[in-house]
Amino acid sequence: MRVVILGSGRGSNAAAILEAQQAGRLGRARVGQIFSDKPDAGILALGPRFGVPAAWLDAAPFKTKLDAEGEQRYIAAIRACAPDLVVLAGFMRVLKPPFLDAFAGKIINLHPSLLPSFPGLDGIGQAFRRGVKITGCTVHYVTAEVDGGPILDQAAVRIEPGDTLETLAAKVHAAEHALLPAVIARLSAASA
Ligand code: GAR
Repeated sequence: MRVVILGSGRGSNAAAILEAQQAGRLGRARVGQIFSDKPDAGILALGPRFGVPAAWLDAAPFKTKLDAEGEQRYIAAIRACAPDLVVLAGFMRVLKPPFLDAFAGKIINLHPSLLPSFPGLDGIGQAFRRGVKITGCTVHYVTAEVDGGPILDQAAVRIEPGDTLETLAAKVHAAEHALLPAVIARLSAASA
């Protein structure tokens, strides 16, 4: 199962996927390419570290979506990898139908809350400020409804009285690092 990862940030979840692959815990899935919309994103440094092609793909001019030209650039570059699965690991742009249709049923996203609670930006901060006692992370298929596609799996994290936003973020990220590779491995087994 050929996997393409898209990310905008430090890439800790992409690293967790690649570490799982190295350790033989990613089933039949193999990461073939990483793309980032941010030229200086930490996720791009994983390429040389893990021996996987990693490239910046210009997504200008918007911050949280792709214009028509950027969308075609992304579709063409991803198509060239012939992926079976496109993993959004901290890719902070909303995807629209032309992109979604190009990889229908093959795009999954990681979100740092127990959806449908706290969709959108800063899922961890939203949960912390709301004062819920349990939050977590979700892996779901991507549809045109932002953070609204069918849920593949979730992991729960308890918010303890002594937690700060920082300690909570660390717990949610640890849960993400276990959940996302496990879901990919499971999908690869199902597609075998
Ligand atoms: C992760 O916490 C992921 O859930 C979040 O971005 C972070 C990326 O971290 N994604 C979203 O908020 C998507 N709406 P990473 O770059 O260290 O993997």
